Amino acid sequence: MGEFLTFDEFLNWDAVAGRFTPPARLAVIGDPISHSRSPQMHNPALKARGIEAQYIRVQVPQGRVAEAFRQFAKCGFLGVNITIPHKFEALAEVDEIDPLASRLGAVNTLAIREGRLIGYNTDGPGFLRSVKETFGAEVKDLRVLILGAGGGAGRAVAVQSALVGCPKLVLANRTVSKAETLAGEVTSLSPKNEVKLLSWTDEALAGILPEIDLIVNATSLGMKTGDARLVPAEALLARHLVFDMVYRADGETPLLEDATMAGAKVVDGLTLLLHQGAISFEHWFGGTAPLDAMREGLRNALKA
Ligand SMILES: NC(=O)c1ccc[n+]([C@@H]2O[C@H](COP(=O)([O-])OP(=O)(O)OC[C@H]3O[C@@H](n4cnc5c(N)ncnc54)[C@H](OP(=O)(O)O)[C@@H]3O)[C@@H](O)[C@H]2O)c1
Repeated sequence: MGEFLTFDEFLNWDAVAGRFTPPARLAVIGDPISHSRSPQMHNPALKARGIEAQYIRVQVPQGRVAEAFRQFAKCGFLGVNITIPHKFEALAEVDEIDPLASRLGAVNTLAIREGRLIGYNTDGPGFLRSVKETFGAEVKDLRVLILGAGGGAGRAVAVQSALVGCPKLVLANRTVSKAETLAGEVTSLSPKNEVKLLSWTDEALAGILPEIDLIVNATSLGMKTGDARLVPAEALLARHLVFDMVYRADGETPLLEDATMAGAKVVDGLTLLLHQGAISFEHWFGGTAPLDAMREGLRNALKA
């Protein structure tokens, strides 16, 4: 687990700032936060661009995001990434919200410009880039099934897919009411395209999968050995593209294992972590992020 500042340490910035050379100017906040691999991705990027700044982890308890943002601005930080559980709280605490973040309903990137707090969401665009890079396909051309269309990640992927006009969007979630709410919202975004709510059973999945191109796992299942399988293996087809937002340092998730066996093309959440991070970097510094340095940093972090 990586080093991090506690919230009390962070509030006492003058006492800790000297620990960081080059100076800390970027951070990721969450609770917990020690597991975050974002520093291992962003610090090589800063070095590659010759930027004299460092990216650190800060543990921020729920309900303290506004206070944290004020402290980051006061201490001269340029930007912050926001992870679980703060992406929704962050939305309410910025001075300006990028229209896409507003649509996606969550902020995972903060840029601090002349003391103003500007909120972005890079999960949705990071998903589009990941699909393009891995599968050579555009989400706008794909029929998409989202498992876990009720959580924050599933929401971002569903709204982003609807915004680019994917022809068919099928939503499934353990708690059906959450997927129902989301289905209503995405239908209004893309009234010409088909939005369907799926009851999550093996039979219903086997029935719908022949009509699907891209399967997305946006649940938190798959991280641990022994996690339940999301889709019956025999319903997966060689022509499927399978995107698991979860990643594991010690191998493939059960969904990706089954999909690989079926001959499908697969990608795990590490590619999304890379691309959402690259887009954050571009919001902070402009231009194109040094993707190779970020990718290598992540690979090294996984090996460690
Ligand atoms: N790779 C990346 O960069 C990246 C970015 C964002 C998120 N993620 C990953 O995506 C996952 C979801 O994140 P989130 O922010 O959306 O979390 P979240 O808001 O807590 O949502 C969790 C989702 O998982 C579902 N779920 C949990 N346990 C389940 C079970 N036993 N059976 C079926 N469904 C279950 C929930 O269904 P209910 O609604 O029924 O509770 C909900 O849809 C996490 O693993 C996160 O690490 C990865």
